Amino acid sequence: MNPPHPLRHFLQFSDFTAAEHHWILQRAAALKSKFKRYEKHHPLADRTLAMIFEKASTRTRVSFEAGMYQLGGSVVHLTTGDSQLGRAEPIEDSAKVISRMVDPGDDPHLRQDKIEKFAEHSRVPVINGLTNEFHPCQIPGGHLHLPGVPRPRRAGRAGPGAAQGQGGRVGGRRQQHGQHRLQAADLLGFTVHLSTPTGYEVDQAVAGIRSRDSYKVFKDPMEACRGADLVTTDVWTSMGFEAENEERRKAFADWCVDTDMMRVAKPDALFMHCLPAHRGEEVEAEVIDGPQSVVWDEAENRMHVQKALMEFLLLGKVD
Ligand code: CP
Repeated sequence: MNPPHPLRHFLQFSDFTAAEHHWILQRAAALKSKFKRYEKHHPLADRTLAMIFEKASTRTRVSFEAGMYQLGGSVVHLTTGDSQLGRAEPIEDSAKVISRMVDPGDDPHLRQDKIEKFAEHSRVPVINGLTNEFHPCQIPGGHLHLPGVPRPRRAGRAGPGAAQGQGGRVGGRRQQHGQHRLQAADLLGFTVHLSTPTGYEVDQAVAGIRSRDSYKVFKDPMEACRGADLVTTDVWTSMGFEAENEERRKAFADWCVDTDMMRVAKPDALFMHCLPAHRGEEVEAEVIDGPQSVVWDEAENRMHVQKALMEFLLLGKVD
């Protein structure tokens, strides 16, 4: 089945315009409100979401799966281990077959080049649930919580934000998180204060951003946090890169977000983390379990954002 309007994919944050991101955020807020009121909303009845996983996942799987069911649709869950995708069938052939049978496709935990190839050969919208390089659904999930967003005229008030412990030249979680926040800052007009150990800096070309205007680099993570509206970090080693654990643990030792860092941020600053978190490594328990942390809302909001995204890609701007 072909979608009723031009085929679009969401593979990177920058695939949508600022106006489209604001629409998605507004729509996500409306869908969240319907969900909280137990109001049935089934615009995707008879539609099927195919999800393809290469690695273990909790949030990505549950948020897409529950979200699709809430919209009245159904879900097919595939892993590279239990399908022909892990047995050398060309990704182009898999895309052609799968996209004849389902409506949106969601490819979490694949490599970016694989998802791009899949999208190139797909007849239906493809959403990047999470790749080694990008995590585009996570950022709007966090932004849904920020005052001033989603209203477009106030988007600039979302920043500045301090993003710490981000980077990583070899991919993995560190890169996804930083790169997507940088793309969001570039597009939506807020500032990221970025601090990483030497050797883990963000590569602007890989991050897919046009200029350095939207981010500032700090050697000292404390300085990155000073005056920030939002402090965020992520795990130091991504799934699949466990061999780098020890090296990264040493390199990032001074980048653990602690109460001192939160103290130099704005008094009403928020703390976010895409989870899963390692208390005592990238964040102190006192911070992630403290009053400024909104990590559980962030995780839930991601589901509503993804619902808005699936609706938008399949049906366009609906009320
Ligand atoms: N944040 C996130 O994507 O979590 P999972 O790895 O559990 O999907």
